[in-house]
Amino acid sequence: MSAFQTAIVPAAGLGTRFLPTTKAVPKELLPVVDTPGIELVATEAAEAGATKLVIVTSPGKDAVAEYFRPQPELEATLEERGKTDLLAKVRRAPNLLTVETAVQDKALGLGHAVGCAEGNLTGADEAVAVLLPDDLVLPTGALKKMAAVREKLGGSVLCAFDIPKEQISAYGVFDVRDTGDDDVKQVVGMVEKPKPEDAPSTFAAAGRYLLDRAIFDALKRITPGAGGELQLTDAIALLINEGHPVHVVVHRGGRHDLGNPGGFLKAAVDFALEHPDYGPELGEWLRARLANS
Ligand code: G1P
Repeated sequence: MSAFQTAIVPAAGLGTRFLPTTKAVPKELLPVVDTPGIELVATEAAEAGATKLVIVTSPGKDAVAEYFRPQPELEATLEERGKTDLLAKVRRAPNLLTVETAVQDKALGLGHAVGCAEGNLTGADEAVAVLLPDDLVLPTGALKKMAAVREKLGGSVLCAFDIPKEQISAYGVFDVRDTGDDDVKQVVGMVEKPKPEDAPSTFAAAGRYLLDRAIFDALKRITPGAGGELQLTDAIALLINEGHPVHVVVHRGGRHDLGNPGGFLKAAVDFALEHPDYGPELGEWLRARLANS
C-alpha cells in the first residue's frame, strides 16, 4: 500500500503573470513543449503512487479538469487515420489517475485551497500529497523519497531546496535540525516569506508536500498570515508547535518555476533541448542567436 492515494493540486489562481493569455487559457494548460504543466505534475503524482488527483479550481476554470477527460471523437478520428503516436499522447492524461475537482470560491490563499479538498477524501486517506503545479522538481521521484521518510519517521514530510539567501523571501522557509542523514532534516519551525535577515535557514519549501491528515484540522485553526492569506505554511507551523513530526527531504536536483513567463520559458527550452524532434535544431539556433546577441 502506498503512503498516500490522493494528490491535491491547487489550480484556482488567476494566472495574472500570464495575462492576457490567461483571459482564456488557464496557466496550468500552457504547454511545456507539447504537454501542459499539469500533466507533468499529475504524472509525477501517479508515479509516486497516487490513484486520485483532486484539482482545486475556481468557478469557470473547468478546462483544467476537462483536459483529463477522454475525448472519444478525437480518439476515433486519430484511430481512423492511423495516428497511433498522437492517440497515445491524447489518452495519456485520462489514463493516469482518477481526477476530481474541488471548487475554491474565493482566493483566500494556498492553505484555504488545500482545505477545500477535504470533502474529496475518504476514510482511507491517512495522508495526502500536495503538488504545486508551478513547481517542476527534477528529476521526479522526490515524493517517493518523502513517502519512505514518512514510513520511517511518521508525521508529515516536505521537500526542501537550498535557495540563495537573497531569494529566500519568495518562499516558505524551514528551521531545521540535522538527523544524521544529510538528505533528511527535522523541521522545528516554518515561516512564510520571511525577510532574508529573519529567515531561519536557506532551506525553502519546493512545492511538494506529504501531509498527515491532521493538516485539515490545523487549516481550520489558522488566521490570515503573509500577504493576508491563509497559508499552508502556518498550518504546518501550528502542527510542529503541537509536537507533530515534520521532516524535509533535501532535493539536490533541479527545479523550474512555471509560475511566471521567464521561468516557464526556461522550462520549455530545457525540455525542448532534450526532445529528439526539436532539440538538435533548437540547440543550433540558440547557439547562433546567442552569438549574435
Ligand atoms: C508557495 C508557498 C511557499 C512555497 C512556494 C514554492 O508560495 O506558499 O511556502 O515555498 O509556493 O514555490 P507562492 O509561490 O504561491 O507564493
